[in-house]
Amino acid sequence: MMDFATPVERRGTDCAKWDTFDKIYGGTDLIHVGCADMDFKSPPEICQAFADIAAHGVFGYTDLSPDFYSGVAAWYQRRHGIMLTPDEVMFTPRINIACGLCIEALTRPGDEVILNSPAYPPLAQAAADNGRFVRAVPLKAQDDSFTLDMDALEAAVSPKTKFMILVNPHNPTTRCWSLAELQCIADFCVRHELYLFCDEIHADFIKAGCSFHSMLEIADPALQERLIVANSPAKTFNVMGALAAYLIIRNPKLRQAFYREMQRIGEHNPGIFANAVLKTVYQQCEYYVAEVNAYIDGNESYIRQEFMRLFPKLKILRREGTYLLWMDFRQVFATEDAMFDFFLNQARVEVYAGSHFGADFAGFMRFNLAESRVILQEIVRRIETAQAR
Ligand SMILES: Cc1ncc(COP(=O)(O)O)c(C=O)c1O
Repeated sequence: MMDFATPVERRGTDCAKWDTFDKIYGGTDLIHVGCADMDFKSPPEICQAFADIAAHGVFGYTDLSPDFYSGVAAWYQRRHGIMLTPDEVMFTPRINIACGLCIEALTRPGDEVILNSPAYPPLAQAAADNGRFVRAVPLKAQDDSFTLDMDALEAAVSPKTKFMILVNPHNPTTRCWSLAELQCIADFCVRHELYLFCDEIHADFIKAGCSFHSMLEIADPALQERLIVANSPAKTFNVMGALAAYLIIRNPKLRQAFYREMQRIGEHNPGIFANAVLKTVYQQCEYYVAEVNAYIDGNESYIRQEFMRLFPKLKILRREGTYLLWMDFRQVFATEDAMFDFFLNQARVEVYAGSHFGADFAGFMRFNLAESRVILQEIVRRIETAQAR
């Protein structure tokens, strides 16, 4: 049984989430729940694999283990009922890199890339930085959640649009798109001849009672020939620092196009620690997924209850997947700046404000639930103290 309850000190490790954001905002008294990085230890099997490599003491060029391909194939078969062949799975160090490379391979400067907002910014950035125009189409608010706005997507698409990015489960709204919604996106991409980059990095974080469907389940061959699915064990097992991700591509022509881009940037071998991750986690660590999800679901219940007590006008959106909570503070604070100021300067809790994910979402907040409950209790205590001042 993993121990997620004992806090892990990450300061002093060049940690992006703690050390870097300490520097950005000033002070080592902050609690950081903005960045989507879990503060949990990885499974002991992966720690052992790293320790074995360190003990060996030679860190030369490494090639992908055949266990990587069979591991991804077995994972998709067991967890999603999807059959893959090894050649359909391609290594890439990071999804953000892969997204930029796919855009570079499959579109031209001046073309348009369409996606939904709110949006995890680096994927849109990958398009913009490659000289493509980004069409961000807001999701539609519906009850305590968000839904696709197919009419708005239809209105935004143009003959210059060549590529769509879909994130599923969606960061930051946490939506796990239903099969019907995936079918709508698939039809849209086929009708407008768009390549579809579907980022499933959060697929292993599914709230109890919710379900995840991969875009690979949509059988339409016309969709499959234009589909790139991106995934990674990095979030699931908290090994973002190992740079181990992969793409699943059915169409050999797209695989070749991606391979050429990897060659162009000089990417050939995985890092030795990436290889260790890829050959270990899917074979040995599935138990971790159930345990981490149960802990995160418990954290969600705790934060829901406490935040609704502390902010009676707060709207907490329905959570389906990811370890994030998407909250609407617009009835609580007059402006997003006031919200951010309260959390950062008065409670000393660093969060991500909604406008980070799209101007239409100012006043929302993304909160990382993948923390020790002890840290969450301290956040609640700090908010109470700040409110009492
Ligand atoms: C939707 C999504 N895609 C990709 C990433 C990052 O993946 P990578 O580090 O492999 O680029 C994140 C990290 O937060 C994410 O939320």
